[in-house]
Amino acid sequence: MEFPHEPVLVEEVVRDLLIRPDGLYVDGTCGSGGHSLPVAEALSKEGRLICLDRDPEAVRRCRVRLSFLGERVAVHRANYADLGILLEERGSGGVDGILLDLGLSTYQLDQSGRGFSFQRSEPLDMRMDPESGVPAAHLVNTLPERELERILKKYGEERKARAIARAIVRARSDEEIMTASRLASLVRSVVPRAHWPGAKDPATRTFQALRIAVNRELENLGLFLDKVPEWIHRGGRLVILSYHSLEDRMVKQAFRAWEKGCTCPPDFPVCTCGKSPLFRPIRRDGLKPTEREIAENPRARSAVLRSAERI
Ligand SMILES: C[S@@+](CC[C@H](N)C(=O)[O-])C[C@H]1O[C@@H](n2cnc3c(N)ncnc32)[C@H](O)[C@@H]1O
Repeated sequence: MEFPHEPVLVEEVVRDLLIRPDGLYVDGTCGSGGHSLPVAEALSKEGRLICLDRDPEAVRRCRVRLSFLGERVAVHRANYADLGILLEERGSGGVDGILLDLGLSTYQLDQSGRGFSFQRSEPLDMRMDPESGVPAAHLVNTLPERELERILKKYGEERKARAIARAIVRARSDEEIMTASRLASLVRSVVPRAHWPGAKDPATRTFQALRIAVNRELENLGLFLDKVPEWIHRGGRLVILSYHSLEDRMVKQAFRAWEKGCTCPPDFPVCTCGKSPLFRPIRRDGLKPTEREIAENPRARSAVLRSAERI
C-alpha cells in the first residue's frame, strides 16, 4: 500500500508534543499516519497513541501502516470532536498531548474519487465520512441562491460569491451539477481570467467552501476547542496545524482566551469571574514551514502550526 501524503512540519510537531515515552497521546486527524508514525515510535511499550479519523479509508490505511507497533497504537473511526466519549469509554482521565492536522489528505484529494479536487471528473461528494451528512452535489443542486452565496462568502471568502451562486442556479435548471469538473468549469466561466488570484485556480475557494460546509469543519473545530481543556492533563500539549485563515483564526482566538483566563469585561476594576489561564502558548506566533519545505511539499504552503501547554 502506498502512503502518498507527505506530513507537514513533522519534526516541529513531534518536538512541540514533548513526548513522554510512557504517556497517552491522541492524533485526532491521523490520515494515513504520517504524523502518528513518529509520535508512536517515540513511545515506550507502556506508552499509547489513539488515532482518530472520520474517513474509513484513512482508518484502514493508518491501521496497515502502524500495525507493526502492536498495542501501542489504537486506530478508531471517529470525529475528533467526540474524543470525550472515547476517553470516557476507555476510562482515561486525560491525555498528555493531542495533535490535529486539519484539512484534507493527499489521498482524499488525489485518489479517493469523492470530488475533492476541481481537476477531476468525479462525483461531487466531498464527504470525509461517506456515511455522514449529504454530498456536495445535494447542496449545489438544492440550496437557494442566497444560501449558496452565503456559504461561498463565509467558508471560501469568495469575492465573486454572488455571481458564482447565480451561475450555479442557472446551470442546474438545465441539468443537475453532478461532477467536480462541471462545477469547476462553471466557476471558471464566471470569474474573468484577470481576476484569477495569483497562480490559484478560481475554483479553489468554491471547493474549499463546499468542503467546509459538507463536513461541518468549523463546527467540529469549535466543539473541540470548547472541550479540549478538560481532556489534557496539566503539563500536556496541544498542537494544531491549520491550512486556511478561517480555522487558524479560531485556533488563535482560543489560544488567546486560554492564555488570558479571565473573561471579565476590560473595564471591570477587579476580576469577578475567578477564571485562571488554561494554556500557555509555546511560542507567540504561529510557525510556518520554511521555503525549502514548501518547495518539497507544496501542501505545506498555507500551513500554520500553533502549540500550547496545559497549565
Ligand atoms: C491533513 S489530513 C491528516 C494527515 C496526517 N497527519 C498524515 O500525515 O497522514 C486530515 C485528516 O483529518 C481527517 N478529519 C478531518 N476532520 C475530522 C474530524 N472532525 N474528525 C476526525 N478526522 C477528521 C480527514 O479525514 C483527513 O484524513
